[in-house]
Amino acid sequence: MVADLVVVTDGEQHSRLRKQVQPAFTKGALDSWRNIIDKLAAGLVDDMIAAGNCDAVQRLTMPMPLRVIAAILGVPESDIADFRRWSDDSTQLINFTPTVSGVVSTARSMRAAVALRRYFLKHLADGHLKGSDTVLGRLLQHSTDGALTDNQLFYIAILLLIAGNETTTNLLGGMLHTYAEEPDQYDMIRDKPDLIPQAIEEHVRYTSPIQNLYRYTRADYRVGDVTIPSGSRVLMSFGAANRDPLAFDDPNTFRADRNPRSHVGFGYGPHLCLGAPLARMEAQAVLRELVDRVTRIEMTGPTTWSTNSSLRGPIHLPVVLHAKSAT
Ligand code: HEM
Repeated sequence: MVADLVVVTDGEQHSRLRKQVQPAFTKGALDSWRNIIDKLAAGLVDDMIAAGNCDAVQRLTMPMPLRVIAAILGVPESDIADFRRWSDDSTQLINFTPTVSGVVSTARSMRAAVALRRYFLKHLADGHLKGSDTVLGRLLQHSTDGALTDNQLFYIAILLLIAGNETTTNLLGGMLHTYAEEPDQYDMIRDKPDLIPQAIEEHVRYTSPIQNLYRYTRADYRVGDVTIPSGSRVLMSFGAANRDPLAFDDPNTFRADRNPRSHVGFGYGPHLCLGAPLARMEAQAVLRELVDRVTRIEMTGPTTWSTNSSLRGPIHLPVVLHAKSAT
């Protein structure tokens, strides 16, 4: 299965797989999801304000991308709980570790992947996805490369779950954490909401939700004075590049109005993130709701950060949102 995912292929196979997924992320597709995303952001911020002191990860940063992906995949509200369990478990497949607990957890992931596959195949067989505004509906309609098989469509669904959930959760968590620590920056956005798109780019730079990924060199490659030999395993650090003082002034400072156009938080080159416009749309929708309704984001306990060396973000973020008074 993993061999068919666009993220881990190169050259011709990569171009072919990327072309298969692209029709799902056109401007038209994104525009058709805007309302859903805005509504989800409004609902989740509402819930969080009503909850008072709570864990923002449970209330907002995890449900937001999961529910967006469920919505754009056409998963109905009534199936969300099952969908969440299966997707949480099945995406752990990529974290395989060769220990007893690793094998047990991989067995659970595989069962979840089988359940998720059965679920999608049933939905595809129903026929109601064809012609719909969902990702799979669009792919069924716009497939350029002959008809996509149900299995290929299922792999694409899994790809979106793997690539789009934890990354966006980390971006949203990093954003709340930053504004709780830097209330002046939050006030700046409240004063000038037009800065929201720029501020989100700065969050991607500053947080770098994917800190690093490995590559293998296929030829000798010269960087500055060093030649990396062909066949080397190289850790590319997006996080370090995004804090490079040669590229950004005062890189360890978050500046909501910086507009860091050259950040590499969504990668660079042929593998540039396909979901970047969707992630931006989600984060902008959440930030718009916050600045509209919340005067201050206050931390009520220490933030716990993930220990994953690549995917960095808060896993517990106790905060309270202070709502504007309704005068
Ligand atoms: C803040 C959120 C996100 C961040 C920081 C992020 C970051 C990245 C990065 C750094 C890459 C490049 C990987 C590489 O060089 O090998 C990538 C690729 C990718 N991302 Fe995202 N991503 C985010 C959200 C999303 C979302 C929401 C989706 C889709 C629902 C998505 C889908 C993809 C796909 C399909 C690829 C593979 C592209 C390829 O290999 O050609 N991402 N992402």
